[in-house]
Amino acid sequence: MIRALARNALRGLRALAAEPDPLAAEPDERAMLTWFAPKIARYRALGARIADHVRLIGELDSVNPHLIEIGDYSVIGKGSILLTHGPIKGARPVTIGRFVYIGFGAIVLPGVTLGDHCMVGAGAVVTRSAPAASILVGNPARVLRTLTADERTHIEDTLRHGRVFGRDANRPDVARA
Ligand SMILES: CC(C)(COP(=O)(O)OP(=O)(O)OC[C@H]1O[C@@H](n2cnc3c(N)ncnc32)[C@H](O)[C@@H]1OP(=O)(O)O)[C@@H](O)C(=O)NCCC(=O)NCCS
Repeated sequence: MIRALARNALRGLRALAAEPDPLAAEPDERAMLTWFAPKIARYRALGARIADHVRLIGELDSVNPHLIEIGDYSVIGKGSILLTHGPIKGARPVTIGRFVYIGFGAIVLPGVTLGDHCMVGAGAVVTRSAPAASILVGNPARVLRTLTADERTHIEDTLRHGRVFGRDANRPDVARA
């Protein structure tokens, strides 16, 4: 028991040491990476595969976190969760592509894969996998439409430069989440 705890703590410390160097990022992104780093490090220590530049504001299932993979620059929004276990189908992986945006309070169920650039609306319950660039809304989530090439470029640009979607330009100091 004590040995297992020590092993886990050691993995956590290693994961913290492996965090991207915040000073190498642009100023806005630097602050964001520092903000989310401790939570990301904790989940990485439990086996979750979380790429660099991910904004993990929501939560991951603490049962089977090793079955979760999140691609570069994705945003897991406030109050949302990625689930990897359930009473009937048991343990199932969740795979989130790159530049995916998961809105406030969304629930992604076990077994779901979301392609790059998917966008999940606030409050959606995602029960099935979706191809790249799908906008998903509702419970159960349905594909509202597919993002245009221009929208995908805008999203990539915003995320790559560590900016916040829809922040009021006159209030650059307001909260980031
Ligand atoms: C999904 C989303 C990106 C779609 O934005 P949009 O393309 O501007 O969508 P629109 O407002 O034009 O709505 C289009 C349709 O989808 C529906 N819709 C939009 N968002 C919805 C949502 N979250 N849940 C259910 N339906 C939704 C609208 O009612 C509308 O339906 P209608 O055509 O039958 O009237 C946006 O609504 C959303 O949920 N953003 C997330 C915001 C958020 O969570 N911010 C905090 C993050 S931490």
